[in-house]
Amino acid sequence: MIAKIEQLLKEVEALHASNAEELEALRIKYLSKKGAINDLMADFRNVAAEQKKEVGMRLNELKTKAQEKINALKEQFESQDNGCDGLDLTRSAYPVKLGTRHPLTIVKNEVIDIFARLGFSIAEGPEIEDDWHVFSALNFAEDHPARDMQDTFFIEVHPDVVLRTHTSSVQSRVMEVSQPPIRIICPGRVYRNEAISYRAHCFFHQVEALYVDKDVSFTDLKQVLLLFAKEMFGADTKIRLRPSYFPFTEPSAEMDISCNICGGKGCPFCKHTGWVEILGCGMVDPNVLEANGIDSKVYSGYALGMGIERITNLKYQVKDLRMFSENDTRFLKEFEAAY
Ligand code: DAH
Repeated sequence: MIAKIEQLLKEVEALHASNAEELEALRIKYLSKKGAINDLMADFRNVAAEQKKEVGMRLNELKTKAQEKINALKEQFESQDNGCDGLDLTRSAYPVKLGTRHPLTIVKNEVIDIFARLGFSIAEGPEIEDDWHVFSALNFAEDHPARDMQDTFFIEVHPDVVLRTHTSSVQSRVMEVSQPPIRIICPGRVYRNEAISYRAHCFFHQVEALYVDKDVSFTDLKQVLLLFAKEMFGADTKIRLRPSYFPFTEPSAEMDISCNICGGKGCPFCKHTGWVEILGCGMVDPNVLEANGIDSKVYSGYALGMGIERITNLKYQVKDLRMFSENDTRFLKEFEAAY
């Protein structure tokens, strides 16, 4: 019996296999239920009592060695198989789920693209602003309600530090450090002290446009507005301007577009008027030019500002504004094909 064990030990030590099938054959030959080692184990009961201890030890040694050898050969194959230790090359090449662009980003980029084609370049400013850039430099009267704490988030008072309530603040940031021609588009987040509901949020997004040069007229503004509306909402889109008031423009207007949902016939979305409001605009008030170091006798300009959420709602009919900031991937996934 000892001699048999010795012989098997030698055999096991010298084992080699050149592929997985050969290895499996070896495992069956030595380690399976009907393998050589189990056969010896079965014979163990016939071993004389005084030899049992030694034979038992040798038998165990053989079994362990055989197991170790087969495992070692197996590991060798596995690392040879893919050529790189620990790397599973059978895994899918696309394990990472790709995200989608946020609908507000898609629409913002579209607005930027349209204005970029007209020669506007992007300008940005801080979200935490001082009173001067948000209000005073834009001709807001001392007692204007927007300066009230109910409308504006104040971070500090005297001197006032606020969360900007509109991207018009970037107008004054740019004008105070540059001279015309100025042709900028300013996308960004703004904040207002509003109760959150399906149609209002305490933060939202705007895009502001400003053009200051010699001889800029209301006609130029109207032309750009018409082009923008057609590019954004389709070639059949009509616009209309209604007189309005903003402290920083004179004259001021609000622009409506023909309702892109019913095509102007009248529907619940446009409250059966056929028109929906999309932006505010006007000729830059000479006071604003002067406050920001630009000679209003030489230069004139127009400005316009719009809410990105509003434009997005018009394009995609999102019923609840809160969807934009909840990061619900089921909602965001719906815009997968939009860009
Ligand atoms: N800042 C205005 C708002 O937040 C929007 C606006 C209106 C911007 C008229 C303009 C403008 O540039 O000319 O409601």
